[in-house]
Amino acid sequence: MSGAALVPRRPWKDRHVVLGVTGGIAAYKSVQVARDLTRLGAEVDVVLTASAQRFVAPMSFQGVTGRPVLTDLFSPEGGALHIRLGREADVVCVAPATADFLARAAHGRADDLICTTLLATRAPVLVCPAMNDRMFAHPQVQANLGHLRDRLGYRIAGPAEGALAVAEGEGPGRMIEPWQIEEHVGRALGEDPAFLGRAVLVTAGPTREALDPVRYVGNRSSGRMGYALAQAAWRRGAHVSLVSGPSALEPPEGVDLVQVESAVEMRDAVSDLIPAADVSIFAAAVADYRPAEARDRKVKRGTAGAELTLTLTANPDVAVDTRKLRKEGGVVVGFALETDDVLEHAATKLRDKAFDLLVANDATAEGAGFDVPTNRVTILSGDGAPEELPLLTKDEVAEEILDRVAGRLGAPT
Ligand code: CTP
Repeated sequence: MSGAALVPRRPWKDRHVVLGVTGGIAAYKSVQVARDLTRLGAEVDVVLTASAQRFVAPMSFQGVTGRPVLTDLFSPEGGALHIRLGREADVVCVAPATADFLARAAHGRADDLICTTLLATRAPVLVCPAMNDRMFAHPQVQANLGHLRDRLGYRIAGPAEGALAVAEGEGPGRMIEPWQIEEHVGRALGEDPAFLGRAVLVTAGPTREALDPVRYVGNRSSGRMGYALAQAAWRRGAHVSLVSGPSALEPPEGVDLVQVESAVEMRDAVSDLIPAADVSIFAAAVADYRPAEARDRKVKRGTAGAELTLTLTANPDVAVDTRKLRKEGGVVVGFALETDDVLEHAATKLRDKAFDLLVANDATAEGAGFDVPTNRVTILSGDGAPEELPLLTKDEVAEEILDRVAGRLGAPT
């Protein structure tokens, strides 16, 4: 990576998050949420219930937010605390949300600070349930959740499947992970009218072109740029489909992931999705060629001999082959990874593949290209001068690209 220091992004600067923590073992994970949101610039007011304090001490939260932790409905401050919190909040997130909390919130109870704040706020409310799987499956818990979601418009995130508390086995009931909670909070804070309710399609990752059942021809793409774009578009309020070749990355939160292997599979998946896409972003590093013959048995060294010649045949160009299927008025973004004459090649791709925007990068530049968390790109469009961006993280590059897409999207239909 380049030695240039990257300034941490603080997208939630001056935004207020009320983080309610109720009494479940997952409460320890909420310290991470409070810390990360603070680092992203938010002012995080943590509200702990009495039971939450049996799991995590207020001091842990205070240490990561630098703000007093709130535990008492009846505080000595001038105006009523719950009214101030409710008014100031840009989002209220309750994580973990226990069965008891869900029951109290569903009934509009006002018996502690977090439930009272919920009654006083008009901000979006995000609830992240966490409990034993048998408790979660109980019809009363389900009814309470249904009420919060359907009648009150609360966003319910999780629970996930996985290991529960010690000796409780596995099942749906586990709180979603801190990074996922942060993405949901981000979606509540980062809503962008240009993207709200829009269908966004992103291709990402490498493709694998089978040679035989165990070998393939591929490339070094990690998928990072495409995954960052998919996550960022989701945070802005879009409905996102991510057509991805094999990638080791965690699937982005909230995104429909369509996993494919080869260029042909990617073309087929894109053909299904692109007619409805308001925005299509081709970030995948598609293999241009595949072995002419994919053998159904492993190629043995003994039979291949001292030299093995591979014959490759051209793959479909996913962006070009699906061009006629594009939605009218949709915005289409392509990428170009070049090693020489970057801008000239990029301009040719912009034109030949009928992209609205083309994100060009030089694979030989420091901090750009495959398998690094940063990128240095130039954005081309058919109707303006190329814009050269500084070295940025791929998350930041994603935001820059989406800002430019937003400017090109017409009013939602
Ligand atoms: N692309 C695609 N299908 C392919 C090849 C590329 O959809 N079979 C898309 C990429 O996702 C990218 C753009 O086309 O948005 C340009 O990809 P790139 O690999 O840079 O260009 P190629 O067309 O493969 O040209 P070349 O290899 O000659 O640079």
